[in-house]
Amino acid sequence: MDAPQDLLGVLRRLLENRESLDGQQRLATARAIADSLQGGTECDGTALAALRLLAEDAKWEVRKVVADLLAYLEDEAFTVLAARLSQDVNFFVKRAAERSLDRRRKMKRETGKKERALKQCGDRLDQMRRRYGDAAANAAAQVGQQQAELLLGTVAHDIRSILTPLKASAASLSQTVAEGNHTDSAQRKAKAVLDSVDFMERCVSDIESYSSPLPPERHPEDVADVLAAARDMAVRNLQELGYDMSAVVLSMEVPDGVRVGMARHLIILAVANLVRNAYESFMTGAAQLRAGHIAVRVESEPAEVGITIRDDGMGMQAEDLAELRLLLPARRNKTKARSTGFGLPIANRYIAAHGGTLIINSTEGQGTVVTVTLPRQPNGWEEAQQ
Ligand SMILES: Nc1ncnc2c1ncn2[C@@H]1O[C@H](COP(=O)(O)OP(=O)(O)OP(=O)(O)O)[C@@H](O)[C@H]1O
Ligand SMILES: [Mg+2]
Repeated sequence: MDAPQDLLGVLRRLLENRESLDGQQRLATARAIADSLQGGTECDGTALAALRLLAEDAKWEVRKVVADLLAYLEDEAFTVLAARLSQDVNFFVKRAAERSLDRRRKMKRETGKKERALKQCGDRLDQMRRRYGDAAANAAAQVGQQQAELLLGTVAHDIRSILTPLKASAASLSQTVAEGNHTDSAQRKAKAVLDSVDFMERCVSDIESYSSPLPPERHPEDVADVLAAARDMAVRNLQELGYDMSAVVLSMEVPDGVRVGMARHLIILAVANLVRNAYESFMTGAAQLRAGHIAVRVESEPAEVGITIRDDGMGMQAEDLAELRLLLPARRNKTKARSTGFGLPIANRYIAAHGGTLIINSTEGQGTVVTVTLPRQPNGWEEAQQ
């Protein structure tokens, strides 16, 4: 461990003679090791030997600090100390050790998932190389790289555009509080900080929705019921943001008894965003909608079910449409409250995971038609997941 000189000195003193430090000093030493490991420093032999001693300390507070940091240790050290501390006589130490064990298991699972996904990428490229040759495989790898760069650039840009005002609000709040001013102004600034943190949380949830593995379970669901739930979700979301929806008329034309095998909540979330986008196409200002129509229609074919969401709202310019059809997260739309720009990409991902497709057509000033197709017997799950 690359410990600061004074910590290293203290550790050596401790290892030479554990009685040379009193209880408070041993607690401070355990905390200093914890801070250092949490900061990303590797645990070297000296720190490890000190931790072994501290895990046997007479004070339970010291043993608890060691139990809290177990998740950060290498396998061997972890096994020895976890075995000891999860049997500790003190309840708090035992519980802290059990929590660390859980955290460790979770970290392992996440790493395992990442390693499997990385290996899968490598295997698929090798497969392409064998089937289509080096040039095709290299081109595919380059497209993947370019998409990753685009995505990271977008995410970084969006996070910064939330962080910048957040930092300003936090600094201003800190100054107001330092001046002893606990009035309305401090409250307003605290609210601005919380709003930004909320929005950041929403962005992170969207990133998770866009990247986490999807559940494989499917159940036959009534399409009319699913679409009604999606419409209600969209309406509720917009009402929560203060929209008056009465100017927009939404009609639904869904034949009875159409059932499709699906992960219900994923399709509801996907369609809710499409319906919400349709409502938002009538935006004239903050939380203001002009008069317009949205028509949700279902066509049931033997092999598939088509869902169209048509609006006569603002539509899109041809170049925006071309970009949108890539279905990659784009910059958030600042004219919309709380837009992350992940809505369509997430919808597309959920639909593709059912072996379905999402097609967008739009004309500026006239409106937009989004068509979702879902196979009746979804068998594209494994393919979509690969
Ligand atoms: N029906 C539509 N009519 C007009 N423009 C649309 C429509 N659907 C999507 N768009 C445009 O595509 C953009 C991206 O949509 P998407 O749903 O991915 O993100 P968002 O609605 O901006 O934010 P989020 O859905 O994350 O809250 C929108 O901001 C809007 O400009
Ligand atoms: Mg949206």
